[in-house]
Amino acid sequence: MIEKDVIILGIESSCDDTSAAVIKNGKILSNIVANQAVHEEFGGVVPELASRAHQQNIIPVVQKAIKAANIKKSDLSAIAFTRGPGLLGSLVVGTSFAKSFAYALDKPLIEINHMQGHILAHFIGNDTNVYPQFPFICMTVSGGHTQLVLVEDYFKMKIIGQTIDDAAGEAFDKAAKIMGIPYPGGPLIDKFAKDGNPHKFKFPIASIKDYNYSFSGLKTNLLYFLQKEMKNDARFIENNKADICASYQHTIIKTLFKKLVKAAKDHNVNQIAIAGGVSANSLLRSELNRIGKIEQWTTFIPSFEFCTDNAAMIAIAGHYKYLAKEFAPLDIVPDARLKIQP
Ligand code: KG4
Ligand code: ZN
Repeated sequence: MIEKDVIILGIESSCDDTSAAVIKNGKILSNIVANQAVHEEFGGVVPELASRAHQQNIIPVVQKAIKAANIKKSDLSAIAFTRGPGLLGSLVVGTSFAKSFAYALDKPLIEINHMQGHILAHFIGNDTNVYPQFPFICMTVSGGHTQLVLVEDYFKMKIIGQTIDDAAGEAFDKAAKIMGIPYPGGPLIDKFAKDGNPHKFKFPIASIKDYNYSFSGLKTNLLYFLQKEMKNDARFIENNKADICASYQHTIIKTLFKKLVKAAKDHNVNQIAIAGGVSANSLLRSELNRIGKIEQWTTFIPSFEFCTDNAAMIAIAGHYKYLAKEFAPLDIVPDARLKIQP
């Protein structure tokens, strides 16, 4: 019997990026992402505006992804979409579109957890053909989550540690807002930090139990520090931007690795991956390589286009669910707080 090609359309709309991608037998044919500039002036994502922008973007983005993949709609094996977690108004747009599209084409529908998508992005076909071996630990760091996940199989994942308040990405974005740096602040802090001294200013590392994190105190600490310094020098932020960014970034990354190293040792795991928007951070990437050598880890760092939100990660997760024949009913609804473990 000739095996049929598995061609999955992935749709992602959980936050402020509308994305569609086509994956054929695990390899990318297209991955289109439309960012939403409307949020910049507000210093964060405005849910109502995000959902409206998704409404505008979803059809052109899907059309573009299918065209760029050079396939016909009828070639698709299934439609995979992000069911959650995320902003409900944003998720509704992608979910409704995916349901209608699957119904109209009479193709199976596949629901994907956004956080599992970030992790499974490591299985998108690449030239080296090297992928993480189970079990591995993935440190998933995004604007909404900071988790240490023990990945035992494609869909058997256990959260062994997580933030008890702000996510790492939020710690970057909120600090940027305090410093008058536009949203999303993470990439800009990363950029300014390149010219700064990471040891110039000292910020505290929260001591939290087990493999958990806390980042909200760090941001408050930065705020009080800047308020104090600006009493003497109104231009303190401008004059020290690179050093502040480098010191603050260094503290976040140090905090992240402290728990990751402990979790890897305690679980006797030496395959380590990172995922999510903050995994685009240059210090996080270089530290994973440096610490990975010391700890004798095999490390997996996603390419930049698969760090921040994208539909290729949803499509690859869909590929594995398709092989497992795990399909969703047409009356499925999004879940803003969808969990990766029951
Ligand atoms: O995964 P993602 O695109 O969306 C969520 O699911 O949240 O992550 C977005 C987050 C934002 O907080 C953004 O500031 C952060 O990832 N980010 C970075 C960098 N690039 C994106 N943080 C630090 N350094 C970067 N280079
Ligand atoms: Zn994400």
